[in-house]
Amino acid sequence: MEYKDLIAKIKSIRNYKKEEVDPETIQKLTKYFEDSKRLVKDIGIEMILMTRDEVFDNIKNIAGYNDIMLDAPQYLIFLSEEKDHFLENTSYAAEDVRLKAFELGVGSCWITIGNGDAVKEKLNIKSDKKLTALIAIGFDDNKNKVVYENVSAYNPSKANVKIVEDNTTERLKISEVVYMNKWGNNADPDDLTNLGLLEAFFYARLAPSTKNRQPWRFIYDNGMVMLVLRKDKDINEYEEKIDMGTVMLYFQLIVDNTLFDLEWKFGKPGKDYEVPSEYSIVAYCVS
Ligand SMILES: Cc1cc2nc3c(=O)[nH]c(=O)nc-3n(C[C@H](O)[C@H](O)[C@H](O)COP(=O)(O)O)c2cc1C
Repeated sequence: MEYKDLIAKIKSIRNYKKEEVDPETIQKLTKYFEDSKRLVKDIGIEMILMTRDEVFDNIKNIAGYNDIMLDAPQYLIFLSEEKDHFLENTSYAAEDVRLKAFELGVGSCWITIGNGDAVKEKLNIKSDKKLTALIAIGFDDNKNKVVYENVSAYNPSKANVKIVEDNTTERLKISEVVYMNKWGNNADPDDLTNLGLLEAFFYARLAPSTKNRQPWRFIYDNGMVMLVLRKDKDINEYEEKIDMGTVMLYFQLIVDNTLFDLEWKFGKPGKDYEVPSEYSIVAYCVS
C-alpha cells in the first residue's frame, strides 16, 4: 500500500450512506487483517463484521464520545486475548485495517468503548476474548460532519462536538512533538532530515487519537527513539492504549517503508530523560 498517501488523506468519517460495503471488499479487508503485521506476536485476535441492525440500537447509549454512537451501515469489531499490551496490539491492527479500507474507498471511524465488556454483552457476542475495538465503516455521504473540534492538544477537556462544514482536523508541528536528546529541546527538522527520520515523524503525528488530543511526544537520542505519552484526566486507560497503538503503527509503517524494519519495545531504556510527571516513556526503538 502507498502508506504515505493514505495516511496523509485518511480522516474519520461520521456520516454514512445507507448502503453496505460489498462482500468482495469485506473479503479483501478480512484477508488484509489476517495477513498483516502485528505489534505483539502471539496474541490471538479476531475481526468480525456486524450490521447496523445488530449493533446500533443495542449500544447507542454506551459507546462513542459522550455516548453518542455513530450511525453506520456496518461495524468492525475486534476481539483479543487478554495478554500484555493487547490493547495497543488491537489498535495497531485495527488502524492498519482502516488504512486498507480507505484505500478500497471505504470510510471509517473509531468509536470509543469505555467498557468493552458491556458492549460485548449487549451485542451478545459469545467469545473468551475481550472486545477491544469498535469501528464504524461505510461510504462517506459527504454531508456536514460531526467533528470533535476546537480541541487543544494541550487541553482536550475543552473539546466539544459540533457540526462543521468540513472535516479537517489539525495536528501539532513536528518540532512540537519531537525533542532532541532531552525533554523540551524542540527538534530542528533539518537535523531530522539528516537522520533520515523526518518523514517518519511527519506521518506519525497524523495518527488518530481520542478527541484528537495527540498525546504523544518523541525524544530522539543517539540512535534511539523514545515514545512518550501524556496522561489526561478525561481520558480512560482504554483510550490511552489505543492512542498509543495508532502512532506506533504509523511511525513503523514509514520507517519500514523508507529505512529498515523497526521493532518497538515496550517500557523505557535505562537513562532518565526527566519527562514531566504527566508524561511517561512507554516504548522505544532503535533507529
Ligand atoms: C481510541 C479512539 C476513540 C475514538 N472515538 C471516537 C468516537 O467515539 N466518536 C467520534 O466521532 N470519533 C472518535 N474518534 C476519532 C477521533 O476523534 C479522530 O481520530 C481525531 O479527532 C482526529 O481526526 P481524524 O481522524 O479525522 O484525523 C476516536 C479515535 C480514537 C483513536
